[in-house]
Amino acid sequence: MSTAKQGHAQWSSRMGFVLAATGSAVGLGNIWKFPYMVGDSGGAAFVFIYLACIFLIGLPILVSEWLLGRRGQKNPINTMQEMAAVSGSSKLWVLVGLGGVLGAFLILSFYSVIGGWSLAYIKDALIGSFAGQDADGIGALFTGLLASPVTLIFWHSLFMLLTIGIVARGVTGGLEKAATLLMPALGVLLLLLVIYGMTTGGFGQALEFMFKPEWSQVDGGIILAALGHAFFTLSLGMGIMMAYGSYLGEDVNLLQSARTVVIMDTVIALAAGLAIFPIVFAEGLNLGEGPGLIFVTLPVAFGNITAGWLVGLAFFVLLTFAAITSAISLLEPVVEFVEERTPWGRVGSTLVAGCAAWALGVLALLSFNVLGDFLILGLNVFDLLDTLTSKFFLPLTGLGVIVFLAWRLDKEAVRKELGLDVYDFSLWNLIVRYLAPVGVIVVFFANL
Ligand code: PFF
Repeated sequence: MSTAKQGHAQWSSRMGFVLAATGSAVGLGNIWKFPYMVGDSGGAAFVFIYLACIFLIGLPILVSEWLLGRRGQKNPINTMQEMAAVSGSSKLWVLVGLGGVLGAFLILSFYSVIGGWSLAYIKDALIGSFAGQDADGIGALFTGLLASPVTLIFWHSLFMLLTIGIVARGVTGGLEKAATLLMPALGVLLLLLVIYGMTTGGFGQALEFMFKPEWSQVDGGIILAALGHAFFTLSLGMGIMMAYGSYLGEDVNLLQSARTVVIMDTVIALAAGLAIFPIVFAEGLNLGEGPGLIFVTLPVAFGNITAGWLVGLAFFVLLTFAAITSAISLLEPVVEFVEERTPWGRVGSTLVAGCAAWALGVLALLSFNVLGDFLILGLNVFDLLDTLTSKFFLPLTGLGVIVFLAWRLDKEAVRKELGLDVYDFSLWNLIVRYLAPVGVIVVFFANL
């Protein structure tokens, strides 16, 4: 970023902006969460509903968040405050920004737990734990990890410390530069794993599972899960993209940039599925394995290919890296919120916000062992945090963003800003005024 004349920093290039947004979007959501949700939800029908949500709802909301951020030139809460004032709307719109900060905090807490699993697997790859193991051996390794609160806390703490360290020192820029290299590397490695998948004998079944829908299995719960995940994977509804938009110059084409980010995010998620499901079928593993899915499947590949430890090491290093770029984007808005309201300064605010999320994360990780039977509303803490954010916070704040943009801003100015002709703009309007909001409302309330 460079500092623009008006004093608010700006991205030094469109490329830097797109990379940062992709860094936030691509993360555990794509590689860890998407495949296990597909497995849990019965496969292709979920995939297609998810894709529809991404392109018909996620993409317009991404554009809306950027546009609002660019107009407001402030953090999401102040942006919503100002936009509401300028458009003569209720002050309550600020809740959209506030909900975002709280949502980001809650997500960070359990996100760090899974980031910790990825760190633990770096260690396992290094010491050769995957070598020659079959699916049972790998499964036992994972079960062992989950059973030990102390080990889980150790890795969760390390992940959170890394995130806190980066955010406190304000060196996220350097990380974005590194992402230029590391993100494509992750893509290439996933591609190699998809090719490995083709050799397992389970690839055909995997393709069918992911792309041949059985619509009869679809229910409201699956649709809400797909919708929530579309928000999660694109980092929407948390004001994060709005903050990124506030650093944007007038010349950047929002629709084009959104298309790039969305396509990269989607390709990575689908590739992760195509790497994982062949192993599931070839090894007769459980499709509904849940959050452990990638940790009990991919290491089977690493244990069986030449130099597999190295491939495994590279994979978990890159996965951790992708997770950290997303985690810092979750911590940043929370830190900013604390920093503006307390005398604690950057470092102090980062420590307080990070430690609070860490503590909640500890509760979440205990759901996998000692607190396994401690249920709130029928869910353990980990599932509760996940459900609360993906199925409530994100859809509602995302809805707020799109309704505000579509119904409270001057249409003609938005049309010009998006560079759309009258015909394309009527399609855009149809989507942002009716289709997307009605879709979210129907899915949301049908599930209540
Ligand atoms: N989009 C990230 C992922 O898919 O892993 C997770 C995430 C980051 C969610 C930032 C929300 C967010 F604001």
